[in-house]
Amino acid sequence: MGEEGLRVRGFRSDDLNRVMEINFECLPENYSSFFYRDLHRRFPETFLVAEEDSAIRGYIMCRIERGLSKLRNFRPVRQCHIVSIAVGGAYRRQGIATKLVLKAVRNARSEYNASECFLEVRVGNNPAIKLYEKMGFSKVKRNFGYYLDGEDAWVMALPIEENR
Ligand code: ACO
Ligand code: ZN
Repeated sequence: MGEEGLRVRGFRSDDLNRVMEINFECLPENYSSFFYRDLHRRFPETFLVAEEDSAIRGYIMCRIERGLSKLRNFRPVRQCHIVSIAVGGAYRRQGIATKLVLKAVRNARSEYNASECFLEVRVGNNPAIKLYEKMGFSKVKRNFGYYLDGEDAWVMALPIEENR
């Protein structure tokens, strides 16, 4: 443990290689460097990394979208779509993902005025489903055959209160 412990901060372009490496190690959904740079350019406040001892342990990246509420009568709302989150295998169960989600959700509200957060997760990804449920997300829909290998996705959503 470093003196300062874990810090969640905004992504910088020199974090890109490490973020792509963590993504590659942790998830089958991988993206081009253009994809990361583009998300960061458009939504910098919700692209965050967790850093400890000047090493990146995890990341979260989101897209702000306008869509119909998944929670309240299908009203049009601004939503924070968590595109991808991962924490390196050696650093799990220390609350890192919780901190990343909390800060991204807070920033989505304060910087982009989003009132809802949602994501897709593999129905077999128990650790991630447990994390989201613990944070107050609920399953709102099952997308059949959502992933390239045919696995279904749960769509999970969370209302974002004014002063979260
Ligand atoms: N089994 C059961 N519950 C779990 C597990 C697990 N393996 N991991 C986390 N949880 C639940 C627990 O309730 C945990 O609280 P506790 O430790 O006090 O019991 C709570 O989630 C919070 O866990 P964190 O420590 O904050 O989560 P962590 O930093 O370990 O990261 C993550 C969780 C991101 C799912 C990690 O396991 C990971 O990177 N997995 C591979 C990548 C992945 O699946 N990403 C999500 C895909 S979906 C998407 O990106 C939108
Ligand atoms: Zn998605």
